[in-house]
Amino acid sequence: MSAIQPDTIIQGDCIETLSEVREPFADLIFADPPFNIGYKYDVYEDRKAYHEYRAWTEKWMGVCVEKALKPTGSFWIAIGDEYAAEVRLIGNALGLHLRNWVIWHYTFGQNTKRKFARGHTHLFYWVKDPRNFTFNDMAVRIPSARQTTYADKRANPKGKIPDDVWSFSRLCGTFNERVQWHPCQMPERVLERILKVSSRPGDLVLDPFSGSGTTCVVAARLGRPYIGIDISEVYVESSRRRIADTLAGRSLTTEIAENPELLRPQRRVRRKPKGEIQRPTLW
Ligand SMILES: C[S@@+](CC[C@H](N)C(=O)[O-])C[C@H]1O[C@@H](n2cnc3c(N)ncnc32)[C@H](O)[C@@H]1O
Repeated sequence: MSAIQPDTIIQGDCIETLSEVREPFADLIFADPPFNIGYKYDVYEDRKAYHEYRAWTEKWMGVCVEKALKPTGSFWIAIGDEYAAEVRLIGNALGLHLRNWVIWHYTFGQNTKRKFARGHTHLFYWVKDPRNFTFNDMAVRIPSARQTTYADKRANPKGKIPDDVWSFSRLCGTFNERVQWHPCQMPERVLERILKVSSRPGDLVLDPFSGSGTTCVVAARLGRPYIGIDISEVYVESSRRRIADTLAGRSLTTEIAENPELLRPQRRVRRKPKGEIQRPTLW
């Protein structure tokens, strides 16, 4: 197998790109696909017929598991209520072992008038081999109520493993972390917990829908090599810049000040003809 070239964001379709892989290479895959709820992306149309979206989900999940994920690897998927049940069943059919069905509870949900506002996203956490996978509990422990509230002498001084409901704010438009040029950026804190618990420094992290590059930014910060894939040339270029700026200690607000075109509304860009796509020498 040709060597995997880490620390790359590839512009392309993740199914096509990963279909070419000859040997599984990813220790951890985090996927945050479009949820099929009509978000305005650059080149991807986020409103497909139910069966089309479901069949597409089966394809990209299949190629991630069968082509990219190592036998000891972990697979995390973020998904909304609309397709959570389907994603769960596809994971079963692919032979994955569910470790947790985490609920990411966020503030800054939307306002509603005639129903309760949604304040959560599903985070599925699977492994390929239930007897052989990475779970670094010490990297994600938090203070327990016995420590913080009850002053209980029996409290484990190392804290506790977080439970399966995670509360992290969504990224509000005014947050420094918010990049402005991508419609649905995940907070780095969510990815930090996932990467710390499911990978070790040096493990390769794959994000097949890298978007604004959150997973890759966090991987770079935590010393994990990464491969990101996104179909949008604009997002790929901008996320490469985001990673470089993060590693150089420049702030995002500085990036936007230096590149005001990033604040313009989403542009439609023409996809490069297949032959021109720059592929790293991974596979
Ligand atoms: C929900 S966003 C990911 C956001 C990302 N987690 C972040 O924090 O920025 C989904 C991304 O998938 C990309 N996308 C859609 N179809 C794709 C495909 N077939 N292959 C690769 N990327 C695709 C879109 O361009 C979009 O950036």
